[in-house]
Amino acid sequence: MLSVAVVGSGPSGVYTAQALLQQSLVPDVRVHVLDRLPTPYGLVRYGVAPDHEKIKSLQNSLRAVLEDERVTFVGNVGVGGAGGVSPARLAELYHAVVYCVGASADRALSVPGENLPGSYSATRFVSWYSAHPDIGADPFARDALDARSAVVVGVGNVAVDVARILARGAGELRRTDVPSAALRALEESRVREVHIVGRRGPSQARFTTKELRELGALPGARVVVDPVELALDPAYAAPDGLPGGLPLPAVVRRNLEVLRGWSAGCGAGAAGAESGGARGPAGDAGRRIRLRFFLRPVELLERGGRVAGVRFARTAPDGTGGVRDTGRYEDIEAQLVLRAVGYRGVELPGLPFDPVRGTVPHAAGRVLRGGVPSPGEYVAGWIKRGPTGVIGSNRSCAKETVGSLLADAAALTRRTAAGDPLAVLREWGLRPVEWTGWLSIERAEAELGRSLGRGPVKIPDWAGLLAAARDENR
Ligand SMILES: Cc1cc2nc3c(=O)[nH]c(=O)nc-3n(C[C@H](O)[C@H](O)[C@H](O)COP(=O)(O)OP(=O)(O)OC[C@H]3O[C@@H](n4cnc5c(N)ncnc54)[C@H](O)[C@@H]3O)c2cc1C
Ligand SMILES: NC(=O)c1ccc[n+]([C@@H]2O[C@H](COP(=O)([O-])OP(=O)(O)OC[C@H]3O[C@@H](n4cnc5c(N)ncnc54)[C@H](OP(=O)(O)O)[C@@H]3O)[C@@H](O)[C@H]2O)c1
Repeated sequence: MLSVAVVGSGPSGVYTAQALLQQSLVPDVRVHVLDRLPTPYGLVRYGVAPDHEKIKSLQNSLRAVLEDERVTFVGNVGVGGAGGVSPARLAELYHAVVYCVGASADRALSVPGENLPGSYSATRFVSWYSAHPDIGADPFARDALDARSAVVVGVGNVAVDVARILARGAGELRRTDVPSAALRALEESRVREVHIVGRRGPSQARFTTKELRELGALPGARVVVDPVELALDPAYAAPDGLPGGLPLPAVVRRNLEVLRGWSAGCGAGAAGAESGGARGPAGDAGRRIRLRFFLRPVELLERGGRVAGVRFARTAPDGTGGVRDTGRYEDIEAQLVLRAVGYRGVELPGLPFDPVRGTVPHAAGRVLRGGVPSPGEYVAGWIKRGPTGVIGSNRSCAKETVGSLLADAAALTRRTAAGDPLAVLREWGLRPVEWTGWLSIERAEAELGRSLGRGPVKIPDWAGLLAAARDENR
């Protein structure tokens, strides 16, 4: 029998468990999927936007894996941190451990004023509307959403997510599982202008076309683009291909088509053109989403001890996909700034870590210690590849890792693993939340939603989640 611990129950952890179940090389496999949270699914629960119900429903296929009789969910058990279990001790309990802990931290802009009140990482904003229990006191409910104008730095899919949530009427979010305090704050939000700003051109933007299009379909919001600014991009100016005859990648071509559609028929001007394609009641007091390009943030501006705007250096294409500064600057007023410039892996004490890449060094998923594969230790997902890729990308990533693990299985199973790791974890003072505990949380969230006249509503705090998990009468 091969006994494996998977640390992390996000997509890469669950796909790792699935790949272990679906192979035939080692027929008898037991998998424990550990998570520091009492809840499964990682960023599918705490990252994927609440209004993306179809993607959220991927939880159902992840659930089927976690409910397999050969798999045990072990929530509320952190690995490598204070109060958790160390990698060395965990290795005593299983033949192999696969680390699938994601990349939970934000990347910094490293510009003056970055930490002014009113400036937040998108990571924090996402965790807030997703009810992540680590978020603590409600940072956006008080003064942040009093802002009239918000700047979102970065043009990836996370930037588009947070801009959409700011621009979407809270009425539409009522049917999602957004926690009560966040829903109330978004209902009372005074934000009217949302600027999404990229330091390079539209053809280097990282958002995907479906997500981009969605911005133009928000009721009560209009997308604003400046055709002159778009035309600074050589690929936008010459849609049939790049000057060297190189074809544009399909996603870039589609994105440019959407932007062109929005800019069609609009006059040029400093980011003032209104999109023809954007919907929303004509003349409504609705919101504007301004998509801006070739602006590199250099400083967050302050007034009265809070953020008041962002100073950008105007950039221009350098001919190689990068940009150069032009010596000109533009200030955009904003009382709320969200930095959506990517995620970053966090060092897990007791595991090797590459601080530059923010990942665990590995060879085909085998953890490298001092450059040499460490027997029985593996990685998959964002902590292996870095924080890029959609949910499905983690499936092939997990398969590669499981391939390496199975190739090592004969050597690994020569060692006897602990009989009942759960009993040992309890002896060590840990209080795991098992699948029944998670089902109890689900029922509590459904009850909470019913009491509010909504569908299931997420419980946003540790105490509430643990109380629900341990309520055996539920
Ligand atoms: C805001 C946001 C929105 C996204 N939206 C989409 C989308 O709509 N569609 C799409 O296809 N992709 C989306 N993605 C990408 C997708 O979420 C990732 O590709 C995927 O979640 C990465 O999977 P993972 O398992 O590596 O990490 P995660 O999903 O982050 O899972 C890691 C898990 O490990 C646990 N963990 C962490 N540290 C420890 C520890 N020390 N001990 C025990 N457990 C630990 C965490 O609690 C978590 O459950 C989004 C990403 C973000 C950031
Ligand atoms: N709906 C979905 O499918 C969905 C939703 C959310 C997330 N995701 C996925 O999750 C992954 C992470 O998304 P992400 O948006 O966090 O990261 P991302 O795709 O890497 O985008 C990061 C953005 O930040 C910019 N940036 C980085 N450093 C900067 C700086 N110092 N100043 C200004 N801009 C800076 C980048 O610009 P440069 O290109 O110039 O570096 C880029 O536009 C992606 O693979 C994404 O597709 C998917």
